[in-house]
Amino acid sequence: ATNSGCKILEQGIYHNLLLQKIQLFEVLGPVQPVVAVAGEDVVLPCYLKPNISAVDLHVEWIRVQIDNPIVHLYRDHEDRNENQVPSYRGRTSLFPEELKKGNTSLKLYDVRSSDDGPYKCFTSLVSVAVGTQPVISNEGYKEGGISLVCESKGWYPQPQVVWMDSEGHSLPAGHTETQRDSMGLFTVRRRVIVQETETNRFTCRVLQQELNEMKETITNIPGELHIFSINKGGGGVVVRWHGGFSQCLLFCLLFVLLDAQF
Ligand SMILES: *[C@@H]1O[C@H](CO)[C@@H](O)[C@H](O)[C@H]1NC(C)=O
Ligand SMILES: *[C@@H]1O[C@H](CO)[C@@H](O)[C@H](O)[C@H]1NC(C)=O
Repeated sequence: ATNSGCKILEQGIYHNLLLQKIQLFEVLGPVQPVVAVAGEDVVLPCYLKPNISAVDLHVEWIRVQIDNPIVHLYRDHEDRNENQVPSYRGRTSLFPEELKKGNTSLKLYDVRSSDDGPYKCFTSLVSVAVGTQPVISNEGYKEGGISLVCESKGWYPQPQVVWMDSEGHSLPAGHTETQRDSMGLFTVRRRVIVQETETNRFTCRVLQQELNEMKETITNIPGELHIFSINKGGGGVVVRWHGGFSQCLLFCLLFVLLDAQF
């Protein structure tokens, strides 16, 4: 059995961070699961309402809840299946004549048991969307180092996430977690375990090579060990705070009390 779970979507056009909604349409699919027999072909229904032409749009069929889930991608008037899940290679097609009528149904040939599961179709006017400034959060000590997580939202197509040290060398990091929002845009998240360094400077770079777009955030908040550094000398005390404001409240207050005694 193969389920097709198309969601109703609101679509818009994105130019960089600016959202310009020029037209709204819904993407509809069946509520009932689609049932198929192994070895046969099946149509996963999906269509636009109103029935505007989808020829100039992007049509994307994905498997839900798997990494790199592309089952079929139609973009810039052609099928772009280079990054398709390998098991679907040569087994998918849209209906070119039907696309003109807003019918974005997918034909899946030679159904296999591994095809079973929920699918989603996205249809959008999105051609590019540059996401948000990456946000770095500190998860504290984990697996022998300090765990930092970088997150950025609202990208299309999917960007890469790279962690770098203070010299710009890329750091070995966990796999990039990817999610799609209701508009079909990508949220990416990647974790790295770092060791403290002298500068405590780490960069998260999110880049989309096709668009030649890049956003990065630099941190010097490596963890609890260096919550602040203190330089004494010349009759003064300089406190450098490397943590967040809420943590500062306690420690800075403590320090002000101590400082009063120097
Ligand atoms: C869209 O739907 C209307 C009403 O069902 C139909 O008359 C029309 O031919 C359709 N348009 C296209 C392009 O299929
Ligand atoms: C879309 O096209 C497929 C294949 O021709 C057809 O089976 C299906 O009924 C069409 N759906 C709609 C809503 O026209």
